[in-house]
Amino acid sequence: MKDYIQYNDWSIVEEGFHAEDNRISESIFSIGNGRMGGRGNFEETYTGDSMLGNYVAGVYYPDKTRVGWWKNGYPEYFAKVLNATNWIGIGVKIEGEELDLHTAKVLEFRRELNMQKGYLHRTFKAELPSGKVVSVDAKRFLSIVDDECGAIRYSVKAENFSGKIEFRPFIDGDIANEDSNYDEKFWNEVAVAAGDDEAYVVLETKKTFFHVATGMKWAVSLNGTPQSPSAEGKTKEKYAENIFSLDVTEGDEVVFDKFACNVSSENHKKEDLLEWAKTHVGKAFDKGFEKMLAEQAEAWAEKWEWSDISIDGDVAAQQGIRFNIFQLNQTYTGRDDRLNIGPKGFTGEKYGGVTYWDTEAYCVPFYLCTADPEVTRKLLVYRYKHLEKAIENAEKLGFENGAALYPMVTINGEECHNEWEITFEEIHRNGAIAYAIYNYIRHTEDKAYLAEYGLEVLLGITRFWTQRVNWSENLNKYVMLGVTGPNEFDNNVDNNWYTSYIAMWCLKYTAESLEWVKENNPARFDEIVAKTNLDVKGETEKWAHIRENMYLGYDEERGIFLQADGFLNKEQILVKDLDPKFLPIVHNWSWDRILRSNFIKQADVLQGIYMFEEDFDLETVKRNYDFYEPRTVHESSLSPCVHNIIAALIGDEERAYSFYLRTSRLDLDDYNEDTKDGLHITSMAGTWMSVVEGFGGKRIVDGELVFKPMLPSNWTSYSFKIQFKGSLLRLSVFADKVELENLSDKETTVKIYGEEVTVPAQSKSEVKR
Ligand code: BGC
Repeated sequence: MKDYIQYNDWSIVEEGFHAEDNRISESIFSIGNGRMGGRGNFEETYTGDSMLGNYVAGVYYPDKTRVGWWKNGYPEYFAKVLNATNWIGIGVKIEGEELDLHTAKVLEFRRELNMQKGYLHRTFKAELPSGKVVSVDAKRFLSIVDDECGAIRYSVKAENFSGKIEFRPFIDGDIANEDSNYDEKFWNEVAVAAGDDEAYVVLETKKTFFHVATGMKWAVSLNGTPQSPSAEGKTKEKYAENIFSLDVTEGDEVVFDKFACNVSSENHKKEDLLEWAKTHVGKAFDKGFEKMLAEQAEAWAEKWEWSDISIDGDVAAQQGIRFNIFQLNQTYTGRDDRLNIGPKGFTGEKYGGVTYWDTEAYCVPFYLCTADPEVTRKLLVYRYKHLEKAIENAEKLGFENGAALYPMVTINGEECHNEWEITFEEIHRNGAIAYAIYNYIRHTEDKAYLAEYGLEVLLGITRFWTQRVNWSENLNKYVMLGVTGPNEFDNNVDNNWYTSYIAMWCLKYTAESLEWVKENNPARFDEIVAKTNLDVKGETEKWAHIRENMYLGYDEERGIFLQADGFLNKEQILVKDLDPKFLPIVHNWSWDRILRSNFIKQADVLQGIYMFEEDFDLETVKRNYDFYEPRTVHESSLSPCVHNIIAALIGDEERAYSFYLRTSRLDLDDYNEDTKDGLHITSMAGTWMSVVEGFGGKRIVDGELVFKPMLPSNWTSYSFKIQFKGSLLRLSVFADKVELENLSDKETTVKIYGEEVTVPAQSKSEVKR
């Protein structure tokens, strides 16, 4: 755990330079705009410990995988969103001496991530080995308005000397991934160019042949007066820079503005990329730093209008939730249905920037309530576009007739994961993809989506389940063998309850969806039947038979759902009785020992209870929670949020709050000692769920929005906004009342503590607590 980040409602602040924690800070101070992003590296030279990171969404490399025993069905490669050209670099020399906070004495230092306005701000005063002192003020952002551009204002003040300051703005494409299996570099040069006040580097990824052009242009002033120093353009392999110097006298301030862009062949023709880079960087230059920053602040204000959660009385919780919301909005903006949300977003290399079930199970609930429905729709269409590949993926494993198995990990629809227990067996991801369609429709009423895209995906998924189960003569039931549930500490089990339950639900939802399309869009129904070669009667009867005869493990004595066959044969030990020196067990125990233990990595049965809560009475929920929670080690960041929601549901406020803290400040406080690798972006959506669904008790029951809010004892009040079926609502929870504000133009009815509350357009109602 770390505690050097200062509490603040709207900013993340580091006071004083914590060089030993620099990698953690670089993750925390990451910035992004959905199209690209990067870690909070310094602009000037830094020779201390650092992990350089700049990423362009969608631009990846198929790294060769390392694997012990190759299994048929494994993918050939692991896709990685690549560490890309460093666009932020500005070398600074004072009378020939390099400015480098690793070798200088840092007299003052402050770093701030301004989440309200969307920029990174760093100020410091440093004494160079020669005794010269400079003050630097650096602001940087990636524009969410011009999303292929970024800008930096870098000011240097000569505190105690007169002489020459040399500036060396550069772009450097000679970049390697720290995480590369065979220490290869993944980029080739296409072109480099350097003019007097501009420079360009165009690179191509090996094997995937993406082109990315990075450009820069700059302006400089001295004590407010624009300067035109004679600059020299230089290039070397994958690198271009400009060098110029200014003579300063003590007290002078040089303000250097650098404008940059990244344009890729994902969005422009390869042969035009250099021209596009020139155009983009020229436009940013003409707009100027202040205008770009003002537009950035305005665009962020709008994002916050939709998605902010305010918490009074607990600044740590307030900062935590805003940080999570900010990072999610920096990572995915919903502008492009080819993009998705990697577990680390643009903040590190781990997980390769690729898509997991995290998107559907955790991120979709967040974007559904806090952004235009189009944003979530894009995430769903992403999977629709990968349907053919999911069918091929299932075929590779021996499935047929259009059965689809979506990959565990993917960037372009192909499976990228190769550990057989997960690649072939952690198949519950298919269920989350189907559930996201259902979730989208119940929030937006966009049922037409089913006809357009959703039904085809559901059919592929349902056909997979139909073939994945087998009839057991022994049990007279359908069973699902050789499965890994969300609890990856229990591999290759039979009848994982969560997986079987979500499969059954998929069969039902697909049948209902098929019926809906048949009635409401018969032409499209016929088209889909023909396209998928669907035997409507035969296949739907089979689905019904499976649904009605699926085996679901249940332990009568304890009244709990069985996570998997044999779970109770394991030695039953509770986490509280485990010597803390073994935690996290993933680092301290052998894999063999973990697999034989009853410790649960993350919500598994409880994940199912969370998703299908309406199917269970409160006593059942409580019994399962009381059994599984004490055995859960939460070694996935996706876990505490689900336990928070269930704890809140059954009235265990204390534990609900402790789970919340664990998720909301996971990265800010480096809870799992892994923030240095990047932020847990997808679990940040789980933090949002903890507030809205956990404390706020938001649910959709029979198509109606309901709330059962609780107020953590150390909060004075909190409020959040939610979009539901075209209405925008703000729910505020106080000690004595719950207030509901209808910010939209149509009357809305919701239930609060079981009571119907109808709020006319643009007005408020309240309910006593
Ligand atoms: C979790 C998975 C998750 C992945 C990426 C793993 O540790 O067990 O459920 O999809 O991380 O976040």
